[in-house]
Parts: sequence; structure tokens; C-alpha cells
Amino acid sequence: MTHWGNLSINEKGHLILGGCDAIDLAARFGTPLYVMEEDTIRGVCRGYVRAINGYPGGGKALFAGKAFLITAMCKIIESEGLGLDVVSGGELYVAMNAGFDLKNVYLHGNNKTPEDLRMAVKAGIGRIVIDSANEIGLLAGIAKELGRIQDVSVRIKPGIEAHTHEYIKTGQVDSKFGFGIGDGQGMRAVRDILAQPSLSLIGLHCHIGSQIFELQPFRDAVDVMLNYMLKVEQETGFVFSEINFGGGYGIHYTAEDAPLRPDEYVKTMLDELTALCNKKGVTPPFFVIEPGRSIVGEAGTTLYTVGDIKTIPDIRTYVSVDGSMADNPRPALYQAVYTCALAGKMDAPEETVVSIAGRTCESGDMLIWNAKLPETQAGDVLAVFSTGAYNYSMASNYNKLPHPAVVLVKDGRAELMVKRQSYDDLIKNDVIPSWL
Ligand code: LLP
Repeated sequence: MTHWGNLSINEKGHLILGGCDAIDLAARFGTPLYVMEEDTIRGVCRGYVRAINGYPGGGKALFAGKAFLITAMCKIIESEGLGLDVVSGGELYVAMNAGFDLKNVYLHGNNKTPEDLRMAVKAGIGRIVIDSANEIGLLAGIAKELGRIQDVSVRIKPGIEAHTHEYIKTGQVDSKFGFGIGDGQGMRAVRDILAQPSLSLIGLHCHIGSQIFELQPFRDAVDVMLNYMLKVEQETGFVFSEINFGGGYGIHYTAEDAPLRPDEYVKTMLDELTALCNKKGVTPPFFVIEPGRSIVGEAGTTLYTVGDIKTIPDIRTYVSVDGSMADNPRPALYQAVYTCALAGKMDAPEETVVSIAGRTCESGDMLIWNAKLPETQAGDVLAVFSTGAYNYSMASNYNKLPHPAVVLVKDGRAELMVKRQSYDDLIKNDVIPSWL
């Protein structure tokens, strides 16, 4: 296996995660197991905070909760000075329950329900990012009824094509998210929001896509957004005081992936923004970003136990593990490619090429095709890297597989952040209609 970083390996040839022996973690907490390295998460957060410090307009990073939102994560990101982006009443509930400062929470969504909006306004959420014409009147009515003036942003489609998977592109014109620029819908939304006394328009928002490696789309986003801000000022006299660029910074899933350091994307955007503001004689707007994947992705490793091994002569060897597309749907959904290793045989030569199969009843439930591994046996612990983002948060109970536990590791300590689901958890909401 070729990894992109320096993996820690102990004298037994075992993989070390956050100072803990991965084989011990598997034995102590069971598998499948999501393991999150705290130092990695904090390191990325600090990189973002450092990159934004010093920008004359000020700014902040919000963690995009959709990547991995649990109560303990709220504690980590709040202690690093980050805010939070949520997309549903459920995500907002996690933040509220964690005692997160709701002034630093932004609510997104292309179809927020009236209940989501009411909950958010009542809770005193920092921003609601308006995504559709219908939402303007709906939200204004709710805020008025509750006697509040709600701070809002407006989401536009900057029309930028970023090179990433079709399903995770969001900034192009043909998208369900946000208002168009060229068709005048954005400008109409701005005027409609300004006409609502219960809404206070603050920010302009965009998100161009996810798992993007190149710098240029982010530079382009800065240009498009600043020019749009000036156009709005020209046409309506209104000046946005904040621009939010969403997330999208790419991470390593394989050694071939070539992302920059997360904060380098931000530095490039801020240099571009500062230069443009100077050129146009504009006060630099407050700068907001919403990275999700880059904060938690590489911090996560999933540990599985190898079970059945099936060799089809001259074709392929299937190594089945005790997890599946239920704990990591990304290979099936986006053809995502992952890197793996045998956690107890890190020093052994990689002599075989095998394919890692999930345990659900789906032929498409393959976690990794053609992985190079040492001689593999039932009982080996398989580590799949970079599973910290969009794995736990997208997990399902398909085939009634319980969600794995999530463990936080740091300096040789390991503690649960989420308990493994039990079979009772799987049926606790089942009810039997009276006629049965
Ligand atoms: N802000 C907004 C408005 C977003 O829609 C997203 C992601 C983010 C921030 C965070 O983007 P990130 O930094 O994580 O790239 N499930 C897919 C990814 C979907 C991303 C949706 N929006 C995956 O597993 O690749």
C-alpha cells in the first residue's frame, strides 16, 4: 500500500492511530469501528483560523456539519473557534444539545421545512442562508410572528464548473441550489429580502462543489462573488458585509490524489479577495468558509475484521469484511476509491491483490477494488483510511446492520464518542398497527 503521509507503526508492526495500537482498539471496541484522530482535526481547524487571521476584513470558518456531526465534534470545533453550518432541524438539534453558541451557526438547505425555519429563528441562529424565492416570504412570516428580525444571507450559483464528481457539484447554473445570476433571479431575491422588515440581509453565499483540488475555481469564485456584490450595490444600493464561499477543499483518499494543504486554498482566496478589493476601492467584506471534508476526512480510519475469503481462479479474490456500504456508501454512490492496509501486518510485504467486499446483499457493495495487501487471513484487521467525512454521517441500517461505534483517539487514549447501535436500537421505533 502506498500512503500519502507518514503512518505510525509500532515495534509489533501494528498501525498506530492517535498513539493507540489499532489492533487493541479493534479488540477493545469491536469492529467495524470508526476511529477519529483528534490532533488531525484540530490541526486543520488551526490552519484555517491562522490563514484567516490577518485578513483585513475579518472572517471565520464554519465546520460543515453534514460531513460528521456528533455532540463531541461540536465541542472540538467550538474550542478551536470555528462556527457550524447545519442543514436540517436534526443537525441544529445536535448543536443545541451540545450547547453550541447558536450565533455561530448558519442554516442551509434548498428546501428547509417551515418547522426547520421556526426552530432556527426561535433558537436565535446566527444566519439563515436563503435558497429559494418561496423561502423569503415563509421565513419573513415566521420571524414576524415570533417578533424577531432574522439575519440572513442569500445563496447564488456562481456558474463555476469545478472538476469533481457530478453528484457533488453544486455551483453550476443547472443546480437545485441557490439563485441564478445571469437570469436575474439573484437580484430579485435581494430586492424581495430587502423589502421584508423581519429579515436583515447580511451575506452573499456560494458553494462550488466538493473534493476540489485546483485553486482556480476558488479564485474564480472570489471574482464572481465580489463582482456580484458590486453589481447588487449598483442596482439596489445595498452592500453585503459578508461573503461566504462554502467548502469544497479536497483531501487524500489515495496517494495519487494531490490536494494542497487546506489553509493554502484559503490563503489564495484571501490574497485574491484583498487584491480585488484594493483594485476596486472596496472595504473588504467579512470572509466565511464552510469546510467539512477537509476538517474530518483524513482524521478518520475505519477498522474492519476480515471474514470470508473467496478466490475465483484466474479472476479475482474477494476479501469480505464485517462492514459494508451501510457504514461507507461512498464507493457505491460516487465510485470513490479508498486506500487500505492490514493493521496488524504493516511491515509485511504486499504480495497479493484482492478486492474488499462489504457484507450486504448487493453485488455493488464493494469497498475497494484491487487493493495490494499482504497475505490476508480471516481475523485480520483491515484499516481503511480517510473515512472521517461523509461515512458516519451517511451511514444506513441497510440489512439491519447497526451503526458502528465512533472512538476518539489522542496521545494513546481512546474513548467512545458514539456507542455502537444495538439490535434494540434497530427496532425501538417499530410499532404494530392495531389490526395485526
Ligand atoms: N457548504 C455547503 C453549502 C455545502 O453544500 C457543502 C457540501 C459544504 C459546505 C461542505 O463541503 P466540503 O468542504 O465537505 O466539500 N456526500 C458527498 C459530499 C456532499 C457535499 C455537499 N455539500 C461526498 O461524500 O463526497
